[in-house]
Amino acid sequence: MAVYQATVSAPVNIACIKYWGKRDTKLILPTNSSLSVTLDQDNLKSTTTSRADPSFDRDRLWLNGHEEEIKDGGRTATCIAEMKRLRREVEEKDPKQPKLSSYPVHICSHNNFPTAAGLASSASGFAALVASLAFLYALPASPSALSLIARQGSGSACRSLFGGFVAWEMGTRADGSDSLAVQVAPREHWPDLHALICVVSDAKKGVASTSGMQRTVETSALLQHRIRTVVPERMAAITEAIHARDFPTFAKITMADSNQFHAVALDTEPPIFYLNDVSRAIIALVVELNRASVAAGGTIKAAYTYDAGPNAVIYAPAANMREIVELIVGYFPQTEKFNDVFGLFSADKPLSGNNLPAGFNPAVSKKFEEGAVKGLIHTRVGDGPRALSSDEALLGADGLPKMVA
Ligand code: DP6
Repeated sequence: MAVYQATVSAPVNIACIKYWGKRDTKLILPTNSSLSVTLDQDNLKSTTTSRADPSFDRDRLWLNGHEEEIKDGGRTATCIAEMKRLRREVEEKDPKQPKLSSYPVHICSHNNFPTAAGLASSASGFAALVASLAFLYALPASPSALSLIARQGSGSACRSLFGGFVAWEMGTRADGSDSLAVQVAPREHWPDLHALICVVSDAKKGVASTSGMQRTVETSALLQHRIRTVVPERMAAITEAIHARDFPTFAKITMADSNQFHAVALDTEPPIFYLNDVSRAIIALVVELNRASVAAGGTIKAAYTYDAGPNAVIYAPAANMREIVELIVGYFPQTEKFNDVFGLFSADKPLSGNNLPAGFNPAVSKKFEEGAVKGLIHTRVGDGPRALSSDEALLGADGLPKMVA
């Protein structure tokens, strides 16, 4: 008996121009276009195995070792149904194809980063789900065509179907057929762009993005200005900056857009706060780092951006990362040793956390206690979903998860 199974991994993406607001909540059609950087799967990824088998009695899903209910009409069910529809088209064109679209599927997914770290996993998770089914069904669909389906799992997931620099074009059609992801540039265009994720402790559970953005759509007047004027201009300008590998312009736009996203959150009734004191201190450090550099005749060195939570992502050219890690560790002492995947520090140049950049005003922030920044992840721009070998499958021969947590 043939086994119909596929395993893929898919990356996380972090937006520079933020998606915040839907014009259609069922189809997940946004009120503005957005643009993100795909992060390297060597550091952060979701891995998913999908298997179709006529002996299965229903579609089932396991996430990080736990079975999740697939709710009728829910986002996961929609993605699976849409993928089966594309498979059916293949089978109708070529009747010799096995009728996989009629078999139930088992889907097993795992994130290599802790959910507790507060890193959004829905983008990489839905991208991996859609990519694994596309591979299982041997679909001829392009990443942009698949992005139409991943989008219905979670909006930001559509951008994880590509590596490099990715735009989600909002589209105008009511059926969503032109609301899809396109690659602005592959990672090879600008491999020098690195990212430092600062995992910030958060005692309280924030407002989930899905409900938060709907409240903003309903109540924020500022969001309307953002949608009409600000985002269209920024999409054009940041695309040009990426094509030109112009980091200072890329950085200015990224920081401005993070600021405006958090401003529209504050402009929501009742207001939504995603940043905390630690997030704001990291903003102050990056602003001062850039000010000191420009004052000394240099250029902007780093850009911060924040999603719907307190974690900071700092984008910077690779050459600046050493100084940035020193700076963050100096203000936010770490309990765990920095995972120096790119070999920034060596025995003769160890990470001390005492070296401030030239001309840096140390008074812009207080020094925080250990644990305020729980961890640092150094990564860089990465590639799109990868097909993995059957050795890496998460489902065993019986079609059930190999490891149960
Ligand atoms: C702040 O994609 O998680 O990260 O479509 O409701 O699933 P849903 O929302 P989601 O929102 C992401 C919001 C953001 C900005 C961004 O990634 O563009």
